[in-house]
Amino acid sequence: VATVTARSIASALAAALGDGVVSTDPDVNRSYEVDWTGRFHGRSACVARPRTSDEVAALVRWAVEHQCPLVPQGGNTGLVGGGVPDASGSSVLVSVGRMSAVRDVDIVAGQATVEAGVTLGALDRALAGEAWEFGVDLGARDSATLGGMAATNAGGLRVLRYGSMRANVLGVEAVLGTGQVVSHLQGLVKDNTGYDLAGLLCGSEGTLGVITALRLRLVPRWPDRLAVWLACDDWSHAVDVATTARLSVDGLDGLEAVDSAALRHVQEQLGLPSLFDTIPPVALLVAWAGRGEPPDALGMLVGDHAHVAGVDAAQWRSLWAYRERVTEAVARVGVPRKFDVTLPLRDLAEFTRRIALEPAAHGAVVFGHLGDGNLHVNLPGQGEQSTGDDVDGRILGLVADCGGSISAEHGIGRHKAPWLHLNRSPEELAAFRSLKAALDPTGIMNPGVILPA
Ligand code: FAD
Ligand code: MLT
Ligand code: ZN
Repeated sequence: VATVTARSIASALAAALGDGVVSTDPDVNRSYEVDWTGRFHGRSACVARPRTSDEVAALVRWAVEHQCPLVPQGGNTGLVGGGVPDASGSSVLVSVGRMSAVRDVDIVAGQATVEAGVTLGALDRALAGEAWEFGVDLGARDSATLGGMAATNAGGLRVLRYGSMRANVLGVEAVLGTGQVVSHLQGLVKDNTGYDLAGLLCGSEGTLGVITALRLRLVPRWPDRLAVWLACDDWSHAVDVATTARLSVDGLDGLEAVDSAALRHVQEQLGLPSLFDTIPPVALLVAWAGRGEPPDALGMLVGDHAHVAGVDAAQWRSLWAYRERVTEAVARVGVPRKFDVTLPLRDLAEFTRRIALEPAAHGAVVFGHLGDGNLHVNLPGQGEQSTGDDVDGRILGLVADCGGSISAEHGIGRHKAPWLHLNRSPEELAAFRSLKAALDPTGIMNPGVILPA
């Protein structure tokens, strides 16, 4: 029965949208139906790959009329199962990857307008040679799309300096779950004309509409840089050094950390040379970017720590690899179980002590964006175990108990929808449902993501 329904959805949609948009080829569709980690998979009735905002609008209107669930997808690098369909085979997967034009680079304002399917790497290439660059950066840059990054309110490696996506999106064009198109791409920095729809769509994970284009804020490109890894005795020590860095170093561009297990994985799995003679309990990466010489305060911060520093672009990249490539190293061990949490900085070290004692977190690798209080707790090779819910519940419960957030930057997706109540009150959840009902009255936009179905 499901196959007949899937076939009828696909042929009706193909007739509505014309040639070349809808794929029913299982070989093509398979890669859209499983996430980057391999942990989350499902089935779609078909995959639609619209080329223009008008095609997206036609698709959403068709879905409203036929009560057909839609699952938007960009680069499929999300780590919480929000961009892959459930197992029913009844939804249409909407890939925006073909909408990949950089519509405008405004070097006077320092802004750019991009279509939702432009990857972060493609934007970086479009800005090469300009005095401006985009302030959000993350390891999945060659696949992650700006639409997906906005939809997840992605954070990444430079939040400390420039904030998450929401702080860097000045306007959106989107097709709401009503089928209506909203477009506000002027990029006026000051513009208090009512509700902030762009801010609302950032972090909405495809549950309110499909983002089709974005107006982005750019930041000055700094010519000089320095990255230094410092050996720390434990998380408490790393937090102290990070706080001193935030207070004293002008031009701080990143404060990242890895524990000994993360460093060991990245060295062993990827064959990177040893960073330190002896792997420290925690290593802190302090990055500076600016014009001219690094500030003296950076030298004072390094003090008598064991450290490894690099100043040119090649050294910067190879030092960053020990942090950026932990995800890849962990994935090589097997399908991982991943958690992305924020802790109040003053309680972060206590959280790491409790995690070390928690049987559900046995074998954990801990790394992340220490400057933001954002830790990634990964259990390599444990993503397919059937006791999943207990493990997830215990770890996320511990996070909430320590006053933290169960999603720092990856979003709630399907993975954490059952645990959203750990962080959000019944009143907040009711407000979320009211917003959803207003912008997606028939509930077709990514059902089961953020709010449990
Ligand atoms: P997808 O995975 O395709 O989708 C993610 C969510 O957004 C889904 O809910 C989907 O339905 C929705 N969506 C996608 N496109 C649209 C659209 N046009 N309109 C409406 N909804 C849409 N994340 C961080 O925050 N910080 C990091 O440092 C970071 N590093 C990473 C490193 C690696 C190696 C990997 C694999 C992932 C990393 N991520 C990181 C996670 C991921 O890259 C981000 O969540 C990214 O924002 C997802 O973009 P995407 O285009 O792949 O979105
Ligand atoms: C990172 O900071 O490396 C990413 O968020 C990816 C991950 O959590 O694995
Ligand atoms: Zn991260």
